[in-house]
Amino acid sequence: MLRKKIFLFIVAISTLSLLLHQGIHSSWIMEPFYFSCPSLQSHPPPGLKPKHINVAFLKTHKTASSTMQNLLFRFAERNNLTVALPVQSCAHQFCYPHTFTSHFVHPHTLPPNIITSHMRFNKAELQRLMPNNTIYITILREPSAMFESSFTYFYHHCQSFKRVRDGSLETFFTDPWRYYQAKEKDSMYARNTLAFDLGLDKDRSGEDEEYVQASLAEVEKVFSLVMIAEYFDESLVLLRHLLSWDLDDILYFKLNMRKASSKRSLTPGLATKIRSWNSLDARLYDHFNASLWRQISALGLACVAREVQFLRQAQEKLMRSCFDGTVPLLRSASQIKNNNLRPWQPSGKVDIMGYDLPANLSRRYSSQAQELCFKLIMPEVQYTQVLLRSQSIRYRRGHQLRSPQQSHPLPLPIRRTTPRHPQVQQSQLPPAAPGSVSVTGFTNSKQTAAPQDPNVGTETSQTQNAATEK
Ligand SMILES: *[C@@H]1O[C@H](CO)[C@@H](O)[C@H](O)[C@H]1NC(C)=O
Ligand SMILES: *[C@@H]1O[C@H](CO)[C@@H](O)[C@H](O)[C@H]1NC(C)=O
Ligand SMILES: *[C@@H]1O[C@H](CO)[C@@H](O)[C@H](O)[C@H]1NC(C)=O
Ligand SMILES: *[C@@H]1O[C@H](CO)[C@@H](O)[C@H](O)[C@H]1NC(C)=O
Repeated sequence: MLRKKIFLFIVAISTLSLLLHQGIHSSWIMEPFYFSCPSLQSHPPPGLKPKHINVAFLKTHKTASSTMQNLLFRFAERNNLTVALPVQSCAHQFCYPHTFTSHFVHPHTLPPNIITSHMRFNKAELQRLMPNNTIYITILREPSAMFESSFTYFYHHCQSFKRVRDGSLETFFTDPWRYYQAKEKDSMYARNTLAFDLGLDKDRSGEDEEYVQASLAEVEKVFSLVMIAEYFDESLVLLRHLLSWDLDDILYFKLNMRKASSKRSLTPGLATKIRSWNSLDARLYDHFNASLWRQISALGLACVAREVQFLRQAQEKLMRSCFDGTVPLLRSASQIKNNNLRPWQPSGKVDIMGYDLPANLSRRYSSQAQELCFKLIMPEVQYTQVLLRSQSIRYRRGHQLRSPQQSHPLPLPIRRTTPRHPQVQQSQLPPAAPGSVSVTGFTNSKQTAAPQDPNVGTETSQTQNAATEK
């Protein structure tokens, strides 16, 4: 009898708690996540392993990598991690196209957990800089789509492109050697850019079998995951599993996109020419696209598809919460009122789009919910500055007054019923940093966000799937 009462009591409490959470949290999303991808549910289940926090993401060009960088910046802020950032003289990149060295890293951003700004890869230097359990990740994009994007984006920066008087890709490909000069500044934008970013020799051919095999083997050895821009969401699901992250951690808005009118579709003939001109990149791409799909199959196609669907639903919700129940219109830079949200414009030839926040957002939402929306759409250059500022403050504070008392400036967030990553939250990391907001309620949640509107700060949004950049 007593047992039965206790049982009923528990059922009642659980139901109540479920109902209470329903409107605010996404328990309905959470459950399938627990049971998804059984092939990966080793012991302990991935959701209960500590999150992996040391990540080196090689940000390649024109590959949705700005979207990835934004995601990593937000993860770092939420978890009070250190992001290695460039010294001021390197601007917002690690003095690209110079090969990376640790001299390019701002001393206030050491020792780092995460590194993600543009660089030309240098394994030895990174291994010296980063913790030894760092997981290396990068992203590739189909070379013909990528080259078309590069051509427009870097038209005014890259001599090889500028020489093409009529500014057309067809003209360039009538005789690429007439326009391209290997030794010239910024020539890496005009041939095998992905290979160059990976630290390889952009002027080797994809038919140089020995070089190709050695390169593939090396990239495979260093990088635990090579994401593919065309399958961005699927890649994120693999990333989430690799790093034992939550759904919250992989939510994003597409950033740094071109206006539709500055994009063009390629004829099959032109696409073939582009691929053979960038044959080393094409070899890399085909190899790692195949291995991405092998990894997806290993996880289970259905399981990955399901997670992708949850991811998109969550993004859709977040998007609507951030933009007053509507999907925000992408705007041209000139239409964006807030300076901090205006993306960098490479040239008059292309219009890089951004987002703006509704003017009346401030009255309705808490500052932390606003902060989340703001950071989701903050372009790379501005976000880099914001992070450098906050990390410099933390660095100086840490070096001037070393007071252990100060390591808990915020009250601990109230736990949800099912802690996903107790280790991360309780021991390895201090409580959430200011401005951290759990989006899906998967991790530490609402209490940090405390939006006045129950829908805000809860979930994410956005229908677009592949976050193809520019
Ligand atoms: C990583 O570094 C730690 C301390 O810095 C050391 O104890 C550990 O053995 C190293 N692990 C490997 C695999 O090198
Ligand atoms: C990537 O690989 C998959 C599986 O082999 C294939 O179906 C798809 O066409 C490839 N994508 C591209 C853009 O080459
Ligand atoms: C806030 O702005 C949206 C559109 O941007 C508008 O529909 C809504 O009525 C505004 N709300 C208030 C309270 O001004
Ligand atoms: C972040 O971590 C550092 C080092 O542990 C600590 O000094 C600092 O107070 C923390 N900041 C926040 C906002 O949690």
